[in-house]
Amino acid sequence: MKIAMGNDHSAVELKNAIQAYVESKGYEVINFGTDSTESCDYPVYGEKVGRAVASGEADYGIAICGTGIGIGIAAGKVKGVRVCTCSEPYSARLSRMHNNTNVLTFGARVIGVEMAKMIVDEWLDNAYEGGRHQRRVDQLAEIENRG
Ligand code: RB5
Repeated sequence: MKIAMGNDHSAVELKNAIQAYVESKGYEVINFGTDSTESCDYPVYGEKVGRAVASGEADYGIAICGTGIGIGIAAGKVKGVRVCTCSEPYSARLSRMHNNTNVLTFGARVIGVEMAKMIVDEWLDNAYEGGRHQRRVDQLAEIENRG
């Protein structure tokens, strides 16, 4: 399983820690993020992660900026991407089970590395339930298709 990772300048350290963590869980990481702390623009990296997931190059995406919000908005602009931006594990888990999210984002200026690992665990270790949720997930795609 491949994970596309992306980040801006605010999240280099957290990206490195989470990359090592998900690799230790057996995932292959494609790093689309910056490795420099020089100021840069989060939409660039959110889009790269979103496109990697939407194209099938990666199975999932994890993107980190200062808040997780900007990079999440950017990734979510790519058709087929469903983003979970969260700061605690419960929402991450339910976003997989009910919303079939395929990109997770969080903020390096919001949460610490141990919370980030718990969020990642809940997000990666739980599967989409389908069933009654599929109709609603289909409706999300219909919104996208209406433009
Ligand atoms: C960069 O300063 C900051 O705005 C960015 O990392 C992110 O938090 C945007 O949503």
